Parts: sequence; C-alpha cells; structure tokens
Amino acid sequence: MANKKIIGLYPGSFDPVTNGHLDIAKRAFDICDELHLAVVGNPSKRALFPVEERVELLKKTTKHLPKVKISSFDGLLVNYAREIKANIIFRGLRAVSDFEFEFQMALINRSLHPGIEVVFLVPNEKFIFLSSSSIKEVAKLGGNVKGFVPAVVQKALKRVY
Ligand code: PNS
Repeated sequence: MANKKIIGLYPGSFDPVTNGHLDIAKRAFDICDELHLAVVGNPSKRALFPVEERVELLKKTTKHLPKVKISSFDGLLVNYAREIKANIIFRGLRAVSDFEFEFQMALINRSLHPGIEVVFLVPNEKFIFLSSSSIKEVAKLGGNVKGFVPAVVQKALKRVY
C-alpha cells in the first residue's frame, strides 16, 4: 500500500468492549492513517447491550486514541467498508480456535470486495483468554471483572446484572 492512505476498519459486536478489544484498537491505530471502530447493528448473536450503548462505551474508552471514529453499521461489513473507503479490515486473533471462523470470514469478505485486505492482529498475551462472552458470564455470576474491562464497562455490567 505504498503512498496510499491507510483507512482501517475494526468491526465487531463489542458487547461489551473489553481491554482485549482496546489492545487491538491501539495496535490498529498505530498502523493506520485513519481508524474506524464499527459496532455491528444486526449481530448474529443476541446482544446484551443495545447498539447505541455499545457505541457510547467505545467512545468513552477510546479517548486516548485521537480522532478514532466510532460508528455502527447494518448489513454487510464490506458494504460499510466501501462506504467509508476503508482498505484494511482488522480483526483480533487470540487462539487457533478463532482461526477457522476468521479465515472463512476473511476469504468471503475479500471475494465480495477484492479491494480490501484483512489483517489479523494478536493482542498482548494477558488478553489471549479474554472474550466478551466470558466477561458477561463472570459478571452475571457476581465475579469481579476488574482488569478485564474498563471501569465504565464494569459499571454498565453491574447495572445490567
Ligand atoms: O465481534 P464479533 O461478533 O466476532 O464480530 C463479527 C462481525 C461483526 C465482524 C461479523 O459478524 C460481521 O462482519 N457481520 C456483518 C455481516 C457480514 O458482513 N457478514 C459476512 C461476513 S461472513
């Protein structure tokens, strides 16, 4: 991508955003000229937090990344990538177990939009085990999620459960 402006798109459910997501966002931010974080509005999984709140939580927790753009999208990811002129989709890869789904999704997305590259980023090893689903389960069962999610997310989880 020599001399080309790198416009990155890091999509996800972010239900809710975790410190693992924020670690990936920072890594993507350091690579891009412009970075968009986008919350899927029509997730295949049922979400705990409404899309507006997931966007809000992302906004509050990415203030250290100047000019990062937070939004939501409906429909196909590649259509949204075209709309914002993104040329890279970032996804976090934690373990081999993530790989098959991510690999399939990357190939589908690239066949739908040949102009896009999918880049996998690996989080700091302290977040390798972390997922929004496990955080929700721990919070639901009364466990402490401090250190796994930012304080505002901790509060939001407390409110829900
Ligand atoms: O955080 P997640 O739940 O792993 O994110 C998954 C996401 C939102 C990236 C994926 O479900 C997605 O891109 N959904 C939009 C619909 C789409 O484009 N599907 C085709 C790709 S297989």
